[in-house]
Amino acid sequence: MYSTLLTEIENGIFIITINRPDKLNAINKQVMADLDKAIDEVYNNNEIKATIITGSGPKAFVAGADITEFSGLTKEQGVQVAKAGQDVFHKIENCHKPILAAVNGFALGGGCELAMACHFRLCSNNAKFAQPEINLGLIPGYGGTQRLTQLVGKGKAMEMMMSGTMITANEALQYGLVNYITAPEELLSKTKELLTTIKNKAPLAIARIIDCINVAVVSDSAYTNGKSGYDKEIESFGDCFASEDMKEGVAAFLEKRAAVFVGK
Ligand code: COA
Repeated sequence: MYSTLLTEIENGIFIITINRPDKLNAINKQVMADLDKAIDEVYNNNEIKATIITGSGPKAFVAGADITEFSGLTKEQGVQVAKAGQDVFHKIENCHKPILAAVNGFALGGGCELAMACHFRLCSNNAKFAQPEINLGLIPGYGGTQRLTQLVGKGKAMEMMMSGTMITANEALQYGLVNYITAPEELLSKTKELLTTIKNKAPLAIARIIDCINVAVVSDSAYTNGKSGYDKEIESFGDCFASEDMKEGVAAFLEKRAAVFVGK
């Protein structure tokens, strides 16, 4: 179904593996188109409750946008490339089902940007992160200037983008870019374990957490409809009271039993 991705659904968790290991999973046009379609599948397939994005092979998550596609592009084509990538990455960020990045090696340029578009990140202890576009006379174009600043703060974001220097998994943890570091062979199982906990919670409440947190960090008014994060939280808190899951969660607590959420 996808020429550049491997996909499988395991216990409601959709695993998307970017599969160009000989090119360190660099994102070319086909990868971006396949990723777009795969994220549509996440939105539309009720069997999918949560998603993991990872890379094929032991070396790389994604080593960036495919640099071979950059030579000869005009200014207008550059704008189109950035816009197309940002649209797909916004779709990931705004998805109502949790999407985690399992970063299994290099996450450079567009790879770091892809990981940052996910709701949060885990990485293996051999992972390396960078925004090295500066070495090509470029800047990040898939949302990296914004999301890296949100995640690691202005000073570190400036340093990483101006220097292009790679940081280690430990530095990424220290800066808040990843939530956990694991041994390479434990990365997927730890990510699945976290998602198993999350996917058993009330899905409508999870969706509202994603919306409210995104309003807190997304500066683009097109994505916030002019509302503040506090307004969005008030509205979303109210929405939860209209859900069966909230009634079930409260009843289960009062009856001293485990809640069973159905996503309504
Ligand atoms: N775009 C296109 N091809 C890429 C790529 C990218 N972003 N990153 C790696 N590749 C290709 C290499 O050209 C090489 O292809 P080849 O075997 O046909 O020559 C293959 O992937 C393996 O990479 P190689 O450079 O041989 O591996 P390495 O272990 O020596 O170095 C990196 C690994 C990640 C340090 C190095 O590949 C690199 O710097 N890549 C570019 C990173 C980058 O600038 N990304 C941001 C792009 S905007």
